[in-house]
Amino acid sequence: MKAKSWGAPVAFYDLRRHDETIRAELEEASRRVIASGRFVLGQEVEAFECEFAAYCGVRHCIGVGNGLDALHLVLRGLGIGTGDEVIVPAQTFIATWLAVSYAGAVPVPIDVDPATANIAPELVEAAITPRTRAVIPVHLFGRPADMHAVSAIAKRRNLVLIEDAAQAHGATYHGKRAGSLGDAAAFSFYPSKNLGAFGDGGAVLCDDSTLARLVRTLRNYGSTSKYHHELMGYNSRLDELQAAVLRVKLRYLDIWNQRRTRIADLYTKGISRLNSSINTPAHEEHVSSSWHLYVIRSTQRDGLQSFLASRGIESAIHYPRTPAEQDAYGRHTATISGNPNAVRHARCSLSLPIAPYLENSEVTAVLDAIREYVGRVEQLE
Ligand SMILES: Cc1ncc(COP(=O)(O)O)c(C=O)c1O
Repeated sequence: MKAKSWGAPVAFYDLRRHDETIRAELEEASRRVIASGRFVLGQEVEAFECEFAAYCGVRHCIGVGNGLDALHLVLRGLGIGTGDEVIVPAQTFIATWLAVSYAGAVPVPIDVDPATANIAPELVEAAITPRTRAVIPVHLFGRPADMHAVSAIAKRRNLVLIEDAAQAHGATYHGKRAGSLGDAAAFSFYPSKNLGAFGDGGAVLCDDSTLARLVRTLRNYGSTSKYHHELMGYNSRLDELQAAVLRVKLRYLDIWNQRRTRIADLYTKGISRLNSSINTPAHEEHVSSSWHLYVIRSTQRDGLQSFLASRGIESAIHYPRTPAEQDAYGRHTATISGNPNAVRHARCSLSLPIAPYLENSEVTAVLDAIREYVGRVEQLE
């Protein structure tokens, strides 16, 4: 990005700057894997699986190829497929829905809570049919969904509860970590995630040993011993290099999330002081977000985004369309229903730069630009 005369640019997320802070350790981990000559299903993956399971407070972690596969393999491991329905939030990254479709089941969207953008528990019950097998709350942007409420309904109606924790590494809900709040959980280690690899990666977490064994088998061609295939499985394994990188980064995750939390606080305080129509993320006492994204809502979203860009500040939209509005799902009438909060969120949300390496001065630059924009818009009104 070109430097502008009114101040240094602020990138939305700069992976190189992030990784630079622990470069020597990352290089050492990579060298260790190269020297081992083992790149698939070796010691690094085993060690990472133990370390991440312990971190999240669950018995099993199974490293897989990516977050979408993690969700898909959980569904397959649970025997969910053709003829089944799975309740999903109407606003999420499309992978939540795709995993259900891959399994052969139908994603049934319900609207999100307007304040948190997470699944609205009070709508779950009405969406349940005799075909419903599971519900997948997404901890969107790193904020854990209202798991107690959803879990109570899931228990009463005999549904499996699967967390889409792809954005919630290290987040907590009533003191328990995301990944330990349902029957199974799926994580993504896509490079820009709070815990990100040097490529694609994902993991399934669960306490149930039978499910863990099935997912472990499914990820490796349906095989537990060489050339014996119990199941028609897949090739979806976290590789050794990614596992070694993730082991290094896991040691920093809490420190990084603390810095993200501090930045989120600065944004919330700074924006609240403006008395503008911009909505900041809701505060919930029992929830600690991983702050994967800091998402504000404004009816002037597009104008605000252009203005920030003119001041050298990158922002992003997560996500400009709901999955039901995507061509991929647009023709499937079963998935289309009125979900006004989800659609409104898609039209109004704007993600500001948030990263552990951001300096306070950069956060101030973002806030100054927002203040200037609010001042201008209010003068016009
Ligand atoms: C909420 C959510 N679910 C699932 C995924 C899929 O993860 P992956 O990109 O690793 O397949 C993502 C990835 O961005 C996500 O944000």
